[in-house]
Amino acid sequence: MTPTLRELIRERVERLNSIPTVPAIIRPLLFYLERPIDHVEVQRIVDLVSCDEAISAQCLRVANSALYFQSREVKSVHGAIVVLGVRQVREILLSCSLLNLLPKQNWVIDPLVFWEHSLGCGLVSRFCARKAQYAEPERAYLAGLLHDLGELVNMMSFQEEFRAAAQLARSDQIPLHRAERSALGFTHCDTGKILAEHWRLPEDITEVVEHHHDVQQAKLHPVLVALVSLSDQLCQENELGYEINQSLDWKLEEDPSWAVLTRDFPTLANAEPVRFLTEMEQFILEARKLVRSILRA
Ligand SMILES: [Fe+2]
Ligand SMILES: [Fe+2]
Repeated sequence: MTPTLRELIRERVERLNSIPTVPAIIRPLLFYLERPIDHVEVQRIVDLVSCDEAISAQCLRVANSALYFQSREVKSVHGAIVVLGVRQVREILLSCSLLNLLPKQNWVIDPLVFWEHSLGCGLVSRFCARKAQYAEPERAYLAGLLHDLGELVNMMSFQEEFRAAAQLARSDQIPLHRAERSALGFTHCDTGKILAEHWRLPEDITEVVEHHHDVQQAKLHPVLVALVSLSDQLCQENELGYEINQSLDWKLEEDPSWAVLTRDFPTLANAEPVRFLTEMEQFILEARKLVRSILRA
């Protein structure tokens, strides 16, 4: 990317009106997510959730959904939080705040599909991190959730060009980031990096945003980037992607992320690839149900 182009993107990121309100929601949550679960107070969550009508309603809807088999209707925020558990509430909080990010008319990709992919990729990254015995599975969750942040910039600030890129990806059956490169001259990884820096997101998350489509370029946190990159690919392969294209000949053993992960984690190095894939696919099936219950409840 040329310095002039970088300047243009930076200017547009800084001019975005609705996005600067987001760090107010995401940054306290970032700290919050890092807290050990024993130190989280239920009452504090009840208070937090109660501040926001949409989030309260969503918690109640999910708690009363078929997924939780409640014999009686849950009527209070407190009750909903007890039913859902802290983890689930964090996911709802995060996805609700993200869902309200963009004005309706700016979406080129269906917002539900976009957030289902993001939330799905977060859940799959955390699962994969646990399987690998990676020390910080919650970090992987957050990185997975935020990895495609640059799509937001492209949809808001380069709408027409981005629409053309999405069409090109569909017609030529190529990955979206390649289509972006030809239609826009840059990808959501480039714009995502600029937005992540503008929001002052942590360095490891920023590197995931920048390099999840070219793991070999990740120099500082290659393992986290590989975890998210592999999970992203698995989501695309298992109907938790953007439905723009499907790579027909992807193979786990040839994926550079797999090489990074098997080099660092003996549990994965000793795993049978077919078995690993089957387990991941089973989990993705569950994750798909979960994200749909959260976002479409
Ligand atoms: Fe991406
Ligand atoms: Fe993605």
